[in-house]
Amino acid sequence: MNVLTTIAEIRDAVLAAKNNRQTIGLVPTMGYLHEGHLTLASNARKENDVVIMSIFVNPTQFGPNEDFESYPRDLARDTELAASAGVDYIFAPSVEEIYPQDGGIYIRAGRQAQILCGASRPGHFDGVLQIVAKLFNLVQPDSAYFGQKDAQQVAIIQTLVRDYNFPVELRIIPVVREEDGLAKSSRNVYLSADERCQAPAIQQALQLAKRELIESRNVEKALTLATKIIEDNTDGKIDYFSILSYPDLKEVDEHSGQIVLAAAVYIGKTRLIDNLIFSLKGEVAHV
Ligand code: PAJ
Repeated sequence: MNVLTTIAEIRDAVLAAKNNRQTIGLVPTMGYLHEGHLTLASNARKENDVVIMSIFVNPTQFGPNEDFESYPRDLARDTELAASAGVDYIFAPSVEEIYPQDGGIYIRAGRQAQILCGASRPGHFDGVLQIVAKLFNLVQPDSAYFGQKDAQQVAIIQTLVRDYNFPVELRIIPVVREEDGLAKSSRNVYLSADERCQAPAIQQALQLAKRELIESRNVEKALTLATKIIEDNTDGKIDYFSILSYPDLKEVDEHSGQIVLAAAVYIGKTRLIDNLIFSLKGEVAHV
């Protein structure tokens, strides 16, 4: 496996693959790899001739008071893990390589980015779209792999691909969890032992809210229940619990197909997100 750090190197690797008529799978990450990232990589491995994983802690998607500086980084460890998942190239550029000068042209995420994480992290999804669009142009992947853990990110990137005609197939991979249900995340390392014990309550709250929604079809009741579970079982602070149609992220009504039940909760200082995606159609309401 090769670790590439410059745009010239990644362009050469992509050109070589294209000349050999090899398909390319791209796995964009910010590193500090865990099983969630590696599941994306092994799916990419199965479906492509060449697998490129980007590892880049993207400054433009962090707010001024967020954790850009302290975000965990360990390229040596990531390199070993990525190799074991069958990645062919890691693309790990410096910030200066990716953003050599202050930008003058920006992509602005639309309506889907005004709510949920976008409401508490203004500009976050603009930064995500900026780096993802650059990676799509640099790597020209046939397929790109994203995790359902970041359900809003997936929905917004789907809109980017549609609206800007990127010739890439998005492959979306289910959330990978710890045994107790906590969604795997690079940020879980921030949790103290006590906070780590509290964190699975987020998934439990989502599960119970899902059950309530199926039973009663009552969004308010489901959200109240989820809130109560977090309040009773953690010292955490809820950023949001929301139930919306998916992927358009609009209010749920009787015509909604897929639904996302999404949460962001501060456990201590760590902001954790999780979600469940399901359909109410075909679910029997017991009322
Ligand atoms: P990062 O948080 O490193 O996540 C990289 C990819 O791994 C994302 O698509 C994310 O949804 C997926 N992922 C993370 N945890 C997961 C889990 N437990 N189960 C399944 N997939 C999981 O998301 C980003 O980086 C950045 O915003 C990025 C898209 C790379 C742009 O900078």
